[in-house]
Amino acid sequence: MCSHSAVLAIVKLAGPGTGLTRVTDEQSICLERQLQVKVMAMDNQHKRLFDLINEFNDAVHSGRGRDADSDVLLRLIDYTRYHFSAEEKLMERLKYAGLPTHRGEHRYLSEKVQAFKKEFDAGNTNIAPELLKFLGKWLTNHIQVVDQKYSDFMNTHGVH
Ligand SMILES: [Fe+2]
Repeated sequence: MCSHSAVLAIVKLAGPGTGLTRVTDEQSICLERQLQVKVMAMDNQHKRLFDLINEFNDAVHSGRGRDADSDVLLRLIDYTRYHFSAEEKLMERLKYAGLPTHRGEHRYLSEKVQAFKKEFDAGNTNIAPELLKFLGKWLTNHIQVVDQKYSDFMNTHGVH
């Protein structure tokens, strides 16, 4: 009942400091459903974001060093920027009334992550668990609450 063709990844973070528990397969399938906005391009981009968060989590725990971790983090930040821009362009094109508030949310996350990245690059790598926890929680909540608000609007405008 929770299956869907565009299956989203779920944050798999777990362990000391992340504050997130690894979910069972059964639970994750249902969580994935909750995270779908029923606009295929956006669902796919959200999935990619979770993949990158998980990749950063794996990199941090693999002990390959700061440069390798920083590289993944940079890709995550770049992709977040790309996704936010794509989502905002779609809302702009369809004259979605919630765009200004939504854009503000995106800006908040971008600024927070930039600040984390600065600290990380300055050598304070022990902020990684905090960053991962923040990203995982923020993104999950943002998709479930803020992005969900445009779901029906997009669908009724022929965007699926
Ligand atoms: Fe969004």
